[in-house]
Amino acid sequence: CGIIGIIGKDAVTPRLIDGLRRLEYRGYDSAGVATLVNGHIGRRRAEGKIANLEARVAAEPLAGTTGIAHTRWATHGGVSERNAHPIATDRVAIVHNGIIENFQELKEELLAQGRRFDSETDTEAVAQLLTSYLERQMTPEEAMGQAMARLKGAFALVCMFAGRHDLLIGARRNCPLAVGYGEGEMYLGSDGLALAPLTKRICYLDEDDWVVVRQDGARIFNNGQPVERPITTTALSGALIGKGNHRHFMLKEMHEHPEAVSNTLRSYLDPTTRAVTPPDLPFDWKDVPRLTITACGTAFYAALIAKYWFEQLARLPVEADIGSEFRYREAPMPAGGVCIAVSQSGETADTLAALRYAKTQGQTILSVVNVPESAMARESSVVMPTLAGPEIAVASTKALTAQLVVLATLAIAAARARGTLSREREAELVAALVEVPSRIAEVLNNDDAIAAVAHRIADARDVLYLGRGVCYPIALEGALKLKELSYIHAEGYPAGEMKHGPIALITEEVPVVVVAPTDSLADKIASNLEQVHARGGKPVLLSDAAGVARLGAKAFAALTMPAVDPFVAPILYAVPVQLLAYHAAVAKGTDVDQPRNLAKSVVVE
Ligand code: G6P
Repeated sequence: CGIIGIIGKDAVTPRLIDGLRRLEYRGYDSAGVATLVNGHIGRRRAEGKIANLEARVAAEPLAGTTGIAHTRWATHGGVSERNAHPIATDRVAIVHNGIIENFQELKEELLAQGRRFDSETDTEAVAQLLTSYLERQMTPEEAMGQAMARLKGAFALVCMFAGRHDLLIGARRNCPLAVGYGEGEMYLGSDGLALAPLTKRICYLDEDDWVVVRQDGARIFNNGQPVERPITTTALSGALIGKGNHRHFMLKEMHEHPEAVSNTLRSYLDPTTRAVTPPDLPFDWKDVPRLTITACGTAFYAALIAKYWFEQLARLPVEADIGSEFRYREAPMPAGGVCIAVSQSGETADTLAALRYAKTQGQTILSVVNVPESAMARESSVVMPTLAGPEIAVASTKALTAQLVVLATLAIAAARARGTLSREREAELVAALVEVPSRIAEVLNNDDAIAAVAHRIADARDVLYLGRGVCYPIALEGALKLKELSYIHAEGYPAGEMKHGPIALITEEVPVVVVAPTDSLADKIASNLEQVHARGGKPVLLSDAAGVARLGAKAFAALTMPAVDPFVAPILYAVPVQLLAYHAAVAKGTDVDQPRNLAKSVVVE
């Protein structure tokens, strides 16, 4: 899941491990490092946390000035030291993100040649393939060129060759890989954040590029031809991002919601004129027949909320679908349509594939991403960055509220262009958006109350989340966060649909979190809460003072939220549902920042 490679001037093992730490946030289940020691490949690997790898290296130090390192998130082959990367033969060591889809075919071919496999990984097929070429007297460059033509699937690869201190070869297809230029040193890394402490000069590889890196520079190839790619100066800080005074990155990042929202808002609206200031777009909203929004995970909930906004404000038909479904659904898309991809990382494989599908269907592509150098940004006609700052915790938090404000301002812009929104209402909506950071700060100040409620649901086996309209996706977000962080089973449901199924689950054991700001659907959700109460369930009410005054008596617990314009309610209510999940997880003692089996940016299908 995380890759780092260094051709250095001095011992690289400690620096590689340092690099892995910076990649730790992406989620992983094993880690490893390999260097060249007197021309031979030396390797240390360990299951679990990087601390285990460090202990291994402390017990058996690894010298060498050229090396590669990896944190692995298992795809093919279980979590074990044997399957941890680097995967090596005596001639080549490899670290790999992604999946080699035709590895079975390659493996059978290589087994038939009498080669023996050591691990259950798809990566080993690449190592053995390269080794077979090297044994046929090909140079590493020739071997890589041949291998690129044989490999199918998605990968970022970095290969180190026995006897070649001055060489690393990298390759990318559908997974990011960047080259870093140092002073007499060169680097490779799976993202800019990993390279930032080593150098500011970074070159992001393009699809199907492979790169020959030597101490004095890099040569990039694509389709057999040498190519030039720009070297950019990264603005990413080289300082290790710390947790500040917070116990977890996730808590710190939730406390950064107000900043993420206000920094992002500043780029997309003018508070003095109370008007949105969208970027220039290569189309006119009046002519757009349909908008498609695609995303995965938490970013998908931003897409779902945006669907309500665009439909209500701009009267524009919207389809919102998760990347992994959309990409294979063969959805017809109308000429002149627009597709928005929403993603924190800008690298999630399914969202990227959905974006590419939309492109083949002639759609104009907009992306809402938190990483401006990402693949999605590079493949879009218009990039609308979220200014949430680096997000380290695996579970996305502040990126969601930042995505929501971008989409909200865009929906207002579309409505203005389509003539469906009065100037007065636009001013009201903008004013409501400008208020959001302060209202979120109030919610954060009420964290003790949220923690107290979380403690009351932390022992539950199942928790139901209900919401309606624009806050229905907030119910989904609450349930997703609770299950991924605390491992408590949770389901999010549109409150009106409860009677068609989940109502059967309601007992006095099941907390039901009801997301119920006072809005046009308040009466409807009030009756849903009554239905829970009448069946002996435990409603946990999230509402403003008016809602709590009305329904609080029927609730098992209630949290009073600031009163806001219903338009911005989903942005505000994202915060308490995330905090509830966080505190429930802390109460249960789970690994909040890196929950089991999850990864930060999922570059595999
Ligand atoms: C992973 C993360 C989630 C995130 C999702 C989409 O599953 O654990 O927190 O919401 O990927 O990521 P993206 O980078 O595309 O927003």
